[in-house]
Amino acid sequence: METGNGSPAPSDALVLFGITGDLAYKKIFPALYAMARRGVLDVPIIGVASRNWDVARLREHARAAIREVGGIDDEPAMERLLTRLEYVSGDYEEPGTFEALKQTLGVARQPAYYLAIPPALFETVINGLDAAGLAGQGRVIVEKPFGRDLASARELNRVLRSAFAEDAIFRIDHYLGKEAIMNILYFRFANAFLEPIWNRDHVAGVQITLAEAFGVEGRGAYYETAGCLRDVVQNHLFQIVALLAMEPPGYQGFDAVHAEKYKVFRAMRPLEPDDLVRGQYAGYRDEPGVAPDSDVETYCALRLYIDSWRWQGVPWYLRAGKCLAGTAAEVLVELKPPPQPLFDDAMPVAGGRANYLRFRLSPHAAIALAARVKRAGKAFSGEQRELFLLDQQPEEQAPYERLLEDAMAGEGALFARKDCLEAAWAVVDPVLERHHPVQPYECGSWGPAASNALIAQGDGWRDPDPEAAG
Ligand code: BG6
Repeated sequence: METGNGSPAPSDALVLFGITGDLAYKKIFPALYAMARRGVLDVPIIGVASRNWDVARLREHARAAIREVGGIDDEPAMERLLTRLEYVSGDYEEPGTFEALKQTLGVARQPAYYLAIPPALFETVINGLDAAGLAGQGRVIVEKPFGRDLASARELNRVLRSAFAEDAIFRIDHYLGKEAIMNILYFRFANAFLEPIWNRDHVAGVQITLAEAFGVEGRGAYYETAGCLRDVVQNHLFQIVALLAMEPPGYQGFDAVHAEKYKVFRAMRPLEPDDLVRGQYAGYRDEPGVAPDSDVETYCALRLYIDSWRWQGVPWYLRAGKCLAGTAAEVLVELKPPPQPLFDDAMPVAGGRANYLRFRLSPHAAIALAARVKRAGKAFSGEQRELFLLDQQPEEQAPYERLLEDAMAGEGALFARKDCLEAAWAVVDPVLERHHPVQPYECGSWGPAASNALIAQGDGWRDPDPEAAG
């Protein structure tokens, strides 16, 4: 699996299971087009799906997807991509499908197999590849949700390992490929000034909000099997927590980062029903594919503790939801107020706000550090001002483009590691079935009022300003 210079050999074909599906339409085709534009896509791309299409139909479909999602501004790149596309139509249960795939792969020896299919089909496809002798030197890219709980995640890992080597398995959490999230790691450890205050002595609490103004958008049937906690909290939000909470990696290299993140997941206190407020937006039960009496949460707020030396006693408040008042993702690290009330307005009791560090993750990435400054005049009173450290940078690579390219190069730095995933499941496992019923909330609100009770001190949740330019 290595080239002569010690780096892994690049994949010599990309096989996309589920190429006619939603994920391929919205994310994978645009990523492939971006790669073709940059001239880094020079292998055959073979789509596999059950629809009885031919390659001409698939090419039309790909063009439509790219036109709709991002637009086409480089026709030669588009043509390069389309001529690389091939299509194998067949049932994943049928060995013949994998034989046809083998024929189409021709001389390719180290393909990357992307499973953009419902999780219920993962095992069938992996076994099909294995039985046809196609797994061997190949790589496999697995989409989330990675299991439904700890037991199913373990089982999926077992199935994957029965056919692929661990360093050939790429578990996607697209948040890890986001520039603003990669910057959390860089910002924390490329600067020394943060370290003395980055602990329980100085941090009062951390809030992370992932708000979306839209509903399940036709994904009701999937959402019914997932809910907000499984869909974005156990993976996306927990990955952010791990990057914020981890100890400095002991050496350069991503295995050191993974190792430190793993310790954070292990130190997270398993959740109890009272740590969680689950909400459901009004109208969710009318969505196609949703049960009329559904208790699935479209909003989830929780209080989490990390029982480590650094974070003991510091509450981490996480919330995510659909149909909220805006679309924005933000992290707020709130620092403790001064120990002595020399200026009344700087104390939380007087409505003053302590200093904080804000990572705006989307829609416009930003990092801001807030401190109080005196207002002009005789009185010693002031206000909190933000020192802006970063504005959105142009020319970002979209996460799927970055991750697809990395997986095909055999570069696993930005993927979720097996033990981290399982440890993250262990934290939410106790509340997946045992929890309070969902509370209704109106679309356009910030979720059920009950979630405010999770935050004992301070002013409650800090809602990100969806309109802010950072
Ligand atoms: C996906 C979830 O993983 O992440 C979606 O399945 C969610 O429900 C999406 O909307 C959010 O990702 P992003 O990149 O749009 O913030």
